[in-house]
Amino acid sequence: MSDLENILLVGASGRMGTCIQRLAQEQKISVQKCATYPCIQFSEEMLKNASVIIDFSCDSVTQQIAAGLLQEASPPLPLIVGTTGLSRDTMEGIQHYAQHAACLVASNFSLGIAILRACVRLATEKLPKSFEAELIEIHHRHKRDIPSGTAQSLWEDIRRARALGEGRKLAHHPEVSQNLEPMEVGTHSLRMGSIVGEHQVIFAGLGENLRFLHQAEDRMIFAQGALFAARWICGQRSGLYSVEDALGL
Ligand SMILES: NC(=O)c1ccc[n+]([C@@H]2O[C@H](COP(=O)([O-])OP(=O)(O)OC[C@H]3O[C@@H](n4cnc5c(N)ncnc54)[C@H](OP(=O)(O)O)[C@@H]3O)[C@@H](O)[C@H]2O)c1
Repeated sequence: MSDLENILLVGASGRMGTCIQRLAQEQKISVQKCATYPCIQFSEEMLKNASVIIDFSCDSVTQQIAAGLLQEASPPLPLIVGTTGLSRDTMEGIQHYAQHAACLVASNFSLGIAILRACVRLATEKLPKSFEAELIEIHHRHKRDIPSGTAQSLWEDIRRARALGEGRKLAHHPEVSQNLEPMEVGTHSLRMGSIVGEHQVIFAGLGENLRFLHQAEDRMIFAQGALFAARWICGQRSGLYSVEDALGL
């Protein structure tokens, strides 16, 4: 894995940006902060010095990065995107970017969630289709996207493992989940206090149920995962990668 010397950080003053800066300092990695207001601003000098870009901001900023960097940086820098709630347009921009540089997008950088996703895929494949599946996600009161990016990834894992058709919407049922269509996966989102992040997947059949629970206690776990991914991606060819690729899962 390559040595990481200098990162260009987008969303530097946010909750996640602050954690990345703290960890980078501990690991003796230089950080250049990229201003995002009124629009994203990269200088030639910044791009020349950076070995990777790490983005924890919001959809509109991430969209500007994918579009702007292709024009400004030659060759384009590897890109790590931790921002969640990405729109279809932004994802298309990232896919286009990934044709020219290595790019890793992850709704959750924790090792525990990567393992949880693998367990959920296995359970979905092995359990009878009669088992119902529901997701519960709980986050702090300031989190904007509902349901969380991780809940959407978990839902996507279940959908793929059940081979459901494309285009099925995420059912978001804050109160009851009794009247869901068969095979539909309900998602319940709570926004409370300062909770860093909790995801629970419940599979319930007649006579038994199975629950997978992950609780993030500290944002530093995401920062650790993002810096690990940043080191990994520096040696990769252009393409779109996941955190599972970086972890070899
Ligand atoms: N993938 C993961 O593991 C993971 C983990 C936690 C959070 N997240 C996601 O990472 C993103 C950032 O989370 P956070 O808790 O750090 O958020 P935050 O505290 O609100 O920080 C976001 C930062 O983005 C920049 N920004 C520029 N324009 C913005 C706008 N219109 N709205 C919001 N921010 C804007 C600002 O930084 P500057 O002032 O420096 O430009 C802001 O401080 C969110 O999408 C969150 O869901 C991902």
